[in-house]
Amino acid sequence: MNKLMFYCRVGFEKEVAAEVSDKANELGVFGFARVEENSGYVLYQCYQAGEADRLAQQLSFQRLIFARQMLVVSDLLTDLPLKDRISPIIQTYQQVADQVPLSQSTELWVETADTNQAKALLTFCSKFTVPLRQACKQQGWLMGKNAMRGITLHIFFLQTHCCYVGYSYNPNHSPYFMGIPRLKFPAQAPSRSTLKLEEAILSFIPRQQEKQRMNENMIGVDLGACPGGWTYQLVKRGLFVYAVDHGKMASSLHDTGRIEHCPEDGFKFQLPKRKKADWLVCDMVEQPKRIAHLISKWLLNGWCRETIFNLKLPMKKRYQEVQQCLQFIEQQLDNHQLDYEIQAKQLYHDREEISVHIKLNEGSKK
Ligand SMILES: C[S@@+](CC[C@H](N)C(=O)[O-])C[C@H]1O[C@@H](n2cnc3c(N)ncnc32)[C@H](O)[C@@H]1O
Repeated sequence: MNKLMFYCRVGFEKEVAAEVSDKANELGVFGFARVEENSGYVLYQCYQAGEADRLAQQLSFQRLIFARQMLVVSDLLTDLPLKDRISPIIQTYQQVADQVPLSQSTELWVETADTNQAKALLTFCSKFTVPLRQACKQQGWLMGKNAMRGITLHIFFLQTHCCYVGYSYNPNHSPYFMGIPRLKFPAQAPSRSTLKLEEAILSFIPRQQEKQRMNENMIGVDLGACPGGWTYQLVKRGLFVYAVDHGKMASSLHDTGRIEHCPEDGFKFQLPKRKKADWLVCDMVEQPKRIAHLISKWLLNGWCRETIFNLKLPMKKRYQEVQQCLQFIEQQLDNHQLDYEIQAKQLYHDREEISVHIKLNEGSKK
């Protein structure tokens, strides 16, 4: 097994390939990415033996923007016999049993790509999981108890008779089946966009810190807030929110008494004198570079301490655009000697866009 597989949003395969090649090269690993457009996944073939396993442990999954999942995979198993698909899969794992801690595996996921075509396979995947899990247990695998450690076994079906066999390292992968968190749309939320911010908070803020970092003593600003899906998420966590947008906000949010609607231009909006925001969120449909400038301005002026925003990517060179925007922000913050954390991810609920999170650390000046 000397290939890595990355799951992604359909149509973003080239971005994954460019990003993974860059990051692998930084770690001194060389190979080539194979891209099939609109397949929902990318394969990265390493030149040197053992390098895929090394990347799966050392290439920080959290730092990959466009990948939903990262795993080591075998060559494609084709022509699986209809009567016994399990034996070839078990044999493939047996070939790596002396290098991979299969007994420490905690979970088995039988998956497919997130494309309309492949999703038809999901019922098959789900049925196949039960007998395959039993067969793995008979081998002494799937005995790991700690989901934060160990490995996860993945079978990735392209069709019912062909699949990749693989594994991921639990501390360095997405903890969700197919890399997709299943979130329930809250009935009271004014728009489906609400799930974008909910997923961003889930992805960027450790659960045990959420209360401390988002609570009723805090002020939030939501630029491009209408009709209020993102504001809803902040109000739900207790914040008082300045909702900035020329459009109307949902009346249910006004009823909470926890928002002030500011029908203004988000690029010009300023908080009332002497007020500072704990949080700035921004979902305005605008050029990514303009958003990057705006967010930098808020952080440099100390108008907010933490932010989640979207960069919309309708253009062709999306990876390049993202790199330029993030580099610009980082340069600005570095020039002002601010101490910060930054994370960027194309989340499941993001469409042609990515979500970015920046947190200024206590004391802030380096
Ligand atoms: C994608 S929608 C936001 C949806 C919102 N996050 C939600 O969850 O309901 C984008 C919004 O940005 C607003 N917008 C675009 N440019 C703006 C600007 N310069 N100032 C304020 N709002 C702006 C639009 O009016 C639109 O309501």
